[in-house]
Amino acid sequence: MKNILLCVTGSIAAYKVADLLRLLQQENKNIKIIATSSALDFVSELTLKTLSHNQLCTDNNSTGLEHINLSRWADIIVVAPLTANTLAKISGGFADNLLTQTILAADTDKIYIAPAMNTQMWHNKIVQKNLKKVLKNNKFHLIAPIKDTLACGEYGIGKMAEIKDVVKIIIKKKQQGLKGKKIIITAGATIEPIDSVRFLSNYSSGKMAYAIVSDCLNQGAEVLIVEGKTDNLPNPAIDKQSKKRLKIIKINTAEQMFNKVMENIKTCDIFISVAAVVDYSPVNPATNKIKKTNKNIQIELKPNVDILKEVASLSDRPFCVGFAAETENLQKNATAKLKNKKLDLLVANDVSKKDIGFASDDNAVTLFYGKETKKLPKNKKTIIAQQTINTMILLYKQQK
Ligand code: CTP
Repeated sequence: MKNILLCVTGSIAAYKVADLLRLLQQENKNIKIIATSSALDFVSELTLKTLSHNQLCTDNNSTGLEHINLSRWADIIVVAPLTANTLAKISGGFADNLLTQTILAADTDKIYIAPAMNTQMWHNKIVQKNLKKVLKNNKFHLIAPIKDTLACGEYGIGKMAEIKDVVKIIIKKKQQGLKGKKIIITAGATIEPIDSVRFLSNYSSGKMAYAIVSDCLNQGAEVLIVEGKTDNLPNPAIDKQSKKRLKIIKINTAEQMFNKVMENIKTCDIFISVAAVVDYSPVNPATNKIKKTNKNIQIELKPNVDILKEVASLSDRPFCVGFAAETENLQKNATAKLKNKKLDLLVANDVSKKDIGFASDDNAVTLFYGKETKKLPKNKKTIIAQQTINTMILLYKQQK
């Protein structure tokens, strides 16, 4: 990947484009810029021209076929920052300026969007609907905005992702440490029915699992996700090649997850158990909705199969990685889990902390393997996933 087309729209975050340019240039990328007329209200034409060492494309200097030429030239197109207005135009298929024309003319899976806007605008159903449309239908890649105090003074999600993270995502270097390896990854929460409308479950969002999947794909692996309930997450494969190596099976209960894992385990080299499997399920789920009474009711629960333990006990077992969610005594409980479940690697995190773990974008974990431990301090789940997979590859290679 050499040519990056940077599309800038009219948000206060447009001033950060200067830093983005500099970091991309340090990675030896060839960069062209499209700026909308409102982007030029926030960052000057002269600044962009001077920094890009290349053509600055605007509605004023477009020759007519520029949108075709630029969309074919670019290996990657990044819209950063992306305003709610341009998002709406893109999702509606508008082509009223050079930027929207170019997006419409481009191969959609090379487009990355980094939205930036006020938090109420971000949460507005219309904006979310537009976003869903371009992520689901067009398979654009989202560089999600982050939570912070915004330029308007309000606090919440809406700030454009940190520039260094934007760079990391779009120039994700292809590594091949897992080339040809088959990996099964369990994700999300299982749901155990109580009756036809209620279930037992937990707060797992699937974000950590998806970050792990994304990195395994990036390292060349073939990945099967066996997935319970997850948040509405974008596809973890960043490009066409990765997508071809990814398969997702959806399940509800722990028992279904166990069956799907076992059906596929024979050919699997590595099993990564990220799912928050519910430990118990109701003995006799009611087929209809349980009616309300004034009396206490009891629901009898039976223990679910420990999927990871079963896989790790197979005679011809894959390399086994577990995740431990702990609320106390992390060191002691994690060491016991590593031993009892006979794991090659255990990734332990403290889920009692509100700013990391379940549903959060951040995590901080400790890796346990053999007699060693390695602390990975608080960072984005995507970065924690990369660091974890790097250690996993080293351990896997030592064992083979
Ligand atoms: N796990 C599993 N099947 C289960 C329960 C857990 O495969 N029925 C896996 C999880 O995916 C995770 C690891 O085991 O990789 C540890 O899960 P965790 O919930 O931390 O521990 P438990 O074994 O359930 O023990 P406890 O809830 O008592 O901490």
